[in-house]
Amino acid sequence: MQIGCKILSLHPLNLYRTVEVYSEKQQITKVLSAFKDQNLTVGLVPTMGALHKGHLALVEKALQDNDKAVVSIFVNPTQFDNKDDLQKYPRTLERDVQLLEGVSKDNIIVYAPSVDDVYEGKLEAEHFDYDGLEHEMEGRFRDGHFNGVGTIVKRLFEIVKPNSAYFGEKDFQQLQIVKKLVEKHNIPVNIVGCDIYREDSGLAMSSRNTRLKSEYLEAAPFIYKTLTTAKDYFGTKSAEEVTQWVENEFRSQKLLELEYFIIADVLTLKTVTEKENNKQYRAFIAVYADDIRLIDNIALN
Ligand code: PAJ
Repeated sequence: MQIGCKILSLHPLNLYRTVEVYSEKQQITKVLSAFKDQNLTVGLVPTMGALHKGHLALVEKALQDNDKAVVSIFVNPTQFDNKDDLQKYPRTLERDVQLLEGVSKDNIIVYAPSVDDVYEGKLEAEHFDYDGLEHEMEGRFRDGHFNGVGTIVKRLFEIVKPNSAYFGEKDFQQLQIVKKLVEKHNIPVNIVGCDIYREDSGLAMSSRNTRLKSEYLEAAPFIYKTLTTAKDYFGTKSAEEVTQWVENEFRSQKLLELEYFIIADVLTLKTVTEKENNKQYRAFIAVYADDIRLIDNIALN
């Protein structure tokens, strides 16, 4: 009897089964419509690949909530304002698929399209109005970034038609912008925000971390350390005092260059001047470590 079970589990179809990867929307649309016919729910996790545990946590959450998870892996050119960053962005599809197989071989499918499959020969971002969210922080420092993000995310929603889609709070502004996109365009998808996944050192996981030289990797946990102290200070000090303290802390950092530190209202993302009791605030930070731009944020109250 036991031997019978063993033979079953070693059936060649199970042994060689891998996560299916589709590079064309026509193929994946067929698979997705078969899911719909079986009333299976689908959770979408949009990524640019070079997957790490933060991404995998989103996939696990998608699988907890849905029958199937679709993971898109696509380095989206229209959201990069810096050509060098786009060129150097790590592309590791084979390893990504292996990592996903560690999560589930049966219930994940990957959509890893070419630029042409997504943009159909017209590599341009649409223009979006996110009620001003796009003009704050990342929007100020990365020209056109959120038009590129909106273009790809809306396109993915049209292709995959997921029940829910999963985004990390690591890119909190992006999460709020996607919620706004869905609301303004009446897209029938539930947007789920997930916690920031960190290294033991506190450094927020990011695909860009793999490009950090060792001395910068050692220096980078200072970012989260400063955020946690800023959170403590925010209990008793004004937003301006905390901001000045953070700016001062970074002046003595040789390897990390502060681009911005901002305390903002989580809904409007506008910089706080006066704290109000009934509002929720978050601190947002962008730092250059060498030529690599790292972002992080923390809830303050
Ligand atoms: P990417 O940077 O690959 O991130 C994909 C998703 O993983 C995003 O929702 C991001 O917030 C989340 N994520 C990244 N690092 C995380 C961490 N340490 N903890 C938790 N979640 C984390 O964000 C993008 O790609 C792109 O802009 C995209 C939405 C795919 C559009 O191109």
